[in-house]
Amino acid sequence: MKRLSVLGSTGSIGEQTLDVVSLHPDAFDVVALAAGKSIVRLAEQVKRFRPELVSVGSEDGARQLRERVGPELDIRVGAPGLEAVATHPADLVMAALVGAVGLAPTLAAIRAGRDVALANKEVMVMAGALVRREVSARGTSLLPVDSEHSAIFQALSGQRVEDVSRLILTCSGGPFRDAEAWPAERLARARREEALDHPNWKMGDKITIDSASLMNKGLEVIEARWLFDVPPERIDVVVHPQSIVHSLVEYRDTSVMAQVGLPDMRVPIAVALAHPDRLSLEIPRLDLAAVSRLDFEEPDRERFPNLGFAYQALEGSEAAPAVLNAANEVAVAGFLAGKIPFGAIARTNGAVLEEHLGTCRGSRVEGLEDVLEADRWGRARARAALGLGDQSVTAGESA
Ligand SMILES: NC(=O)c1ccc[n+]([C@@H]2O[C@H](COP(=O)([O-])OP(=O)(O)OC[C@H]3O[C@@H](n4cnc5c(N)ncnc54)[C@H](OP(=O)(O)O)[C@@H]3O)[C@@H](O)[C@H]2O)c1
Repeated sequence: MKRLSVLGSTGSIGEQTLDVVSLHPDAFDVVALAAGKSIVRLAEQVKRFRPELVSVGSEDGARQLRERVGPELDIRVGAPGLEAVATHPADLVMAALVGAVGLAPTLAAIRAGRDVALANKEVMVMAGALVRREVSARGTSLLPVDSEHSAIFQALSGQRVEDVSRLILTCSGGPFRDAEAWPAERLARARREEALDHPNWKMGDKITIDSASLMNKGLEVIEARWLFDVPPERIDVVVHPQSIVHSLVEYRDTSVMAQVGLPDMRVPIAVALAHPDRLSLEIPRLDLAAVSRLDFEEPDRERFPNLGFAYQALEGSEAAPAVLNAANEVAVAGFLAGKIPFGAIARTNGAVLEEHLGTCRGSRVEGLEDVLEADRWGRARARAALGLGDQSVTAGESA
C-alpha cells in the first residue's frame, strides 16, 4: 500500500486525486492533507480518509476544523504546516497547491526523499534547475501530472532522451481561440465569467484564467524544459481545440509518439499515482469514430503574447521565469478580484519581464533565496504597474 500525502487536497486536482484513491482503497493510504481556506471540504476528507496529519491556512481555520473533526487530529497551520505535510513519512506526495506558495513545501518533500507527483507547475517555472538538482541529488522521482507533461512522460517511456528531436505541446486555445469572435480589442475587455468558461476542462480559477491568456501554455513550455531537460528551441506548441491528443514527442528518425484520450485529469493523476503500474479507471473511453476529426493550428502569438514571454524568459536569465510567474500571479489575482481588465494581464507580464531583462539579462540563480528574491521583485513591480498597492509581496500570497 502506498502512503500518500496531498498538498492542496481541497482543490480541483486534490479532489480528483482523492477520487482516484477512493476507487482503489487497497492501493493507497492517505496519511497527510494540506489545504488553505476550504475547511468544510477538508473536514469531510478527514472523516473519510483518516489522515495522521493535516494543515490549514490559519489558526482560525484550525479551530473550525477541530470543532468539526474532534480533538485527536494533529492540525498544523501556515507555511510550517505545509512543510510538515510535505515531509511527513510517505511514499508519494501529490503537489497540487496553486502558485508560488507550493515551491517551499515541494522542495522540502524532495529534500526529505519523497517521490513527488507534480501538478503545481509554478514550482518548475520558478525553480526548475534547482528542483532538478535536488531530485537527482536525493534520487527521488518527479512524476508529471499536467496532462501535456504526462503525455510526454508516457511517450518517452522506453526511449532515450538523446533521440528526441522535439517536444510538441498541444493547447486547446482556450475560450478566446476564435479570432473573429474575439478580436484583440474585445479580448482586452473580456469579462471574468467569459475567461472562466473553458471549453474542455473544469479546473481551478487561476489555471483557467492562464488557459484563456495562453500564459498556461507558456508556463508549460518552461515546465517541460526543466522536467525533460530539453532546450526551449526544441519545444513547440500547436493548438488542438478538441484536447484529445495531449502532447507528442518527435524522435530524430521523424517518428512521432502521441498520447491520446478524452480530456479527464483523473487519467494523468492515476498515471502519476500508480507509476510504474497502471490503475483501472471506470470512466468514459475514447471512441475515435465518434470524435471523427482532430484539428491543429498555429497559436496566435499576437493576440496571446504571453506564450512568447515564456520563451523570452527562458532565454533571458535564470531568474526571469520566476519574475514572469510572479507578475502573472499578481495580475491574475487582480483580474479575478475585478480590479484590472483582462488585457492588463499580458501587458503587465510583458512590462515586468522587459524591465527585469533590461537590467538582469543573463543573470544566474544560485539557490532558493535568489528565486524568492526574483519572485518578490516581480510581485512588487507588477503591483506597482497595476496600481494595486504594496502589500502581499511574498510567494503565493496573491495566488
Ligand atoms: N485543475 C486542473 O485540471 C489542472 C490541470 C493541470 C495542472 N494543474 C495545476 O495544478 C495546480 C493546482 O490547480 P487546481 O486547479 O487544483 O487549483 P485550485 O482548485 O485553485 O486548488 C488549489 C489548492 O491549493 C490550496 N491553497 C492555495 N493557496 C494556499 C495557501 N496559501 N496555503 C495552503 N493551501 C493553499 C487550496 O486550498 P483552499 O481551497 O482550501 O483554500 C486548494 O486546495 C496548479 O498549479 C495548476 O496549474 C491543474
